[in-house]
Amino acid sequence: MAMIMLSLLTFALVGVLTEGVKAEDMWASTCPDAGLITPCVCTVIDKTLTEMNCSAIASEEELAKVFSQKFTETGFFTLHIEANHHLKVLREGALGNTTFQHIRMYNGALEKVEEGALSASTSTVTHLDFFNNNLKSFPYHTLPSLTRLEYLDLQMNSLQGFPVLSSATLTTLYLSFNPLGELPGDAFINTPALSYINLRKTGIKEVPAGTFTGLPMLSEVDLWANEVHELVEGVLETSSQSWIYLANNNISSIAPNFITGITYGFIDVSSNRLRELKEKVWHPLLDQAIKLDASRPQTM
Ligand SMILES: *[C@@H]1O[C@H](CO)[C@@H](O)[C@H](O)[C@H]1NC(C)=O
Ligand SMILES: *[C@@H]1O[C@H](CO)[C@@H](O)[C@H](O)[C@H]1NC(C)=O
Ligand SMILES: *[C@@H]1O[C@H](CO)[C@@H](O)[C@H](O)[C@H]1NC(C)=O
Repeated sequence: MAMIMLSLLTFALVGVLTEGVKAEDMWASTCPDAGLITPCVCTVIDKTLTEMNCSAIASEEELAKVFSQKFTETGFFTLHIEANHHLKVLREGALGNTTFQHIRMYNGALEKVEEGALSASTSTVTHLDFFNNNLKSFPYHTLPSLTRLEYLDLQMNSLQGFPVLSSATLTTLYLSFNPLGELPGDAFINTPALSYINLRKTGIKEVPAGTFTGLPMLSEVDLWANEVHELVEGVLETSSQSWIYLANNNISSIAPNFITGITYGFIDVSSNRLRELKEKVWHPLLDQAIKLDASRPQTM
């Protein structure tokens, strides 16, 4: 309990410290001259929403060259790089002094985000989208310095092993479709603001007791298509309205009180190896407004 209070306090302090920055001070309302930034294309969507689309960049050097120039205004809302097969590394310094709120590089060939690659945006970035690349590493240890980060999408990459995560502000995490192979019991002890965790198809076999606890906002956990074989007591402690997806695992045993906190929502344990639904496990849950899907796979 003391730890939860402390985390909430940290969260509140971060809120106070960042509140003083006005949107107008941070975000460009004009674009640099088109000729300067080509092949990037800058669009003013409205006066605080300026998007830089660099999908047509041909090399890491070219990206660095565009952003090594001095722009009158350096705070852009979005950096958008989509389906680019030339950028393998997002290099440290490649984005110069330009800052972004959303950095989206997806459906590409990115293998590495260097430490320091995001450092100009530490106090501005809220969304990082790096899904569907070939990332083998990510500078997770810089997450605590991204003081406004809320959303991190790293799904569909080649990330191995569960990362050490630490962020006072992160609410949404996608690590799905990576060969993580494990889920440590202390995976989320330093991410107190998480409400959505997606770990679909990540090769997880065990979920230790206490893994999804101490997260006061937790409302959705997706462990679809892993290899989990049992749910022990005290694995999940969620907020009252929660959606929990455990379908397509190998679960044959579920302990009473494997989940607490939920009073409304959905628990999906379909397509597992459950032979029966034990009264002691499910009665307390089904007394509440919780829907359950425990259907068996058609082949069983
Ligand atoms: C970004 O530019 C590419 C072409 O370079 C285009 O295909 C894509 O639709 C653009 N995306 C956005 C969000 O404007
Ligand atoms: C980036 O900021 C540093 C320190 O303020 C400055 O020396 C450098 O010239 C800037 N670079 C660009 C491209 O604006
Ligand atoms: C699933 O569980 C059964 C026994 O409970 C075991 O024989 C089998 O190897 C498991 N499969 C996987 C993919 O872990």
